[in-house]
This record gives sequence, C-alpha cells and structure tokens, in this order.
Amino acid sequence: MSSQNVYILGIESSCDDTSAAILCNDIVLSNVVASQKIHEQYGGVVPELASRAHQQNIVPVIDQALKQANINKSDLSAIAFTRGPGLMGSLLVGTSFAKSLALALEIPLIDVNHMQAHILAHFIDEEGFDKPEFPFLSLTISGGHTQIVKVHHHFDMEVIGETIDDAVGEAFDKSAKILGLPYPGGPLIDNYAQSGNPKAFPFTKPRVDGLNFSFSGLKTAVLYFVQKQVKENPDFIKENLEDVCASIQYTIINILIDKLKKASKETGIKTIAIGGGVSANSGIRKALKEGEHKYGWKTFVPKFEYTTDNAAMIGVVGYLKYLKKDFNDMSIVAKARIKF
Ligand code: KG4
Ligand code: ZN
Repeated sequence: MSSQNVYILGIESSCDDTSAAILCNDIVLSNVVASQKIHEQYGGVVPELASRAHQQNIVPVIDQALKQANINKSDLSAIAFTRGPGLMGSLLVGTSFAKSLALALEIPLIDVNHMQAHILAHFIDEEGFDKPEFPFLSLTISGGHTQIVKVHHHFDMEVIGETIDDAVGEAFDKSAKILGLPYPGGPLIDNYAQSGNPKAFPFTKPRVDGLNFSFSGLKTAVLYFVQKQVKENPDFIKENLEDVCASIQYTIINILIDKLKKASKETGIKTIAIGGGVSANSGIRKALKEGEHKYGWKTFVPKFEYTTDNAAMIGVVGYLKYLKKDFNDMSIVAKARIKF
C-alpha cells in the first residue's frame, strides 16, 4: 500500500445506528450501517435498548467495513469516533471500542463532533457531488438536530440558529404518529404529501426571534386539529391523509426556508448546504432548488447515505484532523452534550 495514503476507520454510535466506515484519504471505501429496528415498536429511540444493540453490532459492523474495503486492521492509519453529542450509553460503546482498538494497534485516536461531521460530510470525495466553497451556511436537519451553522472553514464554524424545543425530524415523526403512521413517519409524510394539496389545511407558523426554530407548537396544533376533525368525521384521517401530510410538510418547509432566507440576508452568504436525515425530504430539496432561481443561492445536498447517521462522515472528519495531526490521548471521554 502506498505510504502517502491515509486509511481511517470511522466509528459512529451516537444514537440508534451502529456504523463503521473505511476511508482512503477523503474517498469512502466502505460505509456499513446497522440500523436498529427494535425501536420501531416503541415509536421512538429507547436509549437503553440502543446501547445494548450497539454492543451486539459493533464488532460485526467493523469487520464488515474492513472486508468491504478489502484492507486489514494493520493497514489503518488512525481511528476516528463520535465523541458526542448523543445518547451517553450509545456513545460509550463506540468511544470505548475506538480507544481499545487504537491502543492495541498503536495508532492515533481522533475524536469527532457528530454535528460537525454532518456538515463536513460534504467534503467526502464523491463523483457527481461538488464540495461547497467557504464560507457557507449549513442547515442540519434530522431527528435529533435543527441548526443553521455559519461555516468559515472546516473547523471554524458557529451555530447561528437552532431549535428551542423539538427537532424538525421529531415534528415530522410526531405528526405522523398522530395520524396513526408507524415510526419513523417522516418519509411517509413526504410520500403522502406528493399527491396532496399543501394549502388544504393551514397551520400557523411559530413566532421565534432571530434564527432560532420551534416545532413543538406545530405538533400540538396538528394534534388538536386532527382530534377535532375526527370527532366530526371518524374517517377524516383516511379521507384526507394526503392533504393533511402535504399541509404539515408545507408548513415545516416554510419555517425552514424563512429562516434560511433570513440567515442568508443577515450574513450575505448565498452558498447553502444541507445535511441530516430530513434532507431526504422532497419538499426541502425542491424549495432549495427554487431558492437558486429566486434568491441566487448555490445549494449543496450530499449523497443520501451521507445525510443520515453514518460513519463515512466521521471518517472524513478523521482524515481532515489527521492532516493537522490533531490527535487525542487515552484520557478522552464521551460527552452527551458538546458545542463545536
Ligand atoms: O439523520 P437521521 O437518520 O437520524 C438522526 O436523527 O440523527 O434522521 C432521521 C430523521 C427522522 O426523524 C426521519 O423521520 C427523518 O429524518 N426523515 C424524513 C425523511 N427521511 C427521513 N423526514 C421527512 N421527509 C423525509 N423524506
Ligand atoms: Zn445525526
């Protein structure tokens, strides 16, 4: 193997996906994700069950990643792992494993901030996907996060807006639950919304100062609205599912785009990149494209497998930190809440 190539093992275990990836420099050789189905029956992630599943998954997932990349443990240059933010029990599994393996292989250990990784996923070298130029605005939207981040450089970024309550993915999932849809309901709302009228049922948008978001009011509004309608017509959901989904999605997209417009105006930055599981949503993708024509934005959406929780994004941050020789010693510990 060529000596100038850097081989990174990335490990992600912050929530309910156990993932391992191998990168050669910024190129992904493998990206294995074991999603935990166990949570579906509970309608959300159960932390205790998540950490137990990580324990079971981590060895086979890493083995699989090495196999698919066709390299041996001894070829690795460094190990990058998610230190936080996330669920403590889940983070502990990846962190402890990464520390032990780095110690055994006598290679550097690199801690990665999960939120930074969602943003830096754009720097994975992938055919057909351009890397955004600095400075840019990142809209990170998932089941656990909703943030607008001003990105000056790889490791120089600041959160300029975030949710004060629920994350946007939660707004999708909780609304879906009210409509009797299974967890996670975000993709289902998206699906039904495609054939519905987005203006059928207007939901009021929250008033939140600055660039922050709030989604808990929407969830309550959907609940009261549906309860009222079902009282009058027990078949209301069945008869209006597409229109209700389209109206909820329309409201959520409007909330996101309004804040992005504000952020772009205030910062003068027109390069906008999105990340996180909700960036799969067809409505947000369409709205961003429209923004290119309407507001002169240049927008970036990463390859789908790098938007949801995955270890390839942890690996690419590992590679960028490896170049700076930004390594950890064995005293590093997982942290459930961390800022950039
Ligand atoms: O990034 P992710 O896989 O996990 C974390 O939460 O970190 O994001 C999952 C979230 C869930 O809330 C899911 O419902 C939502 O992303 N989601 C969607 C769509 N695909 C996934 N929400 C709306 N439309 C979609 N197409
Ligand atoms: Zn995430």
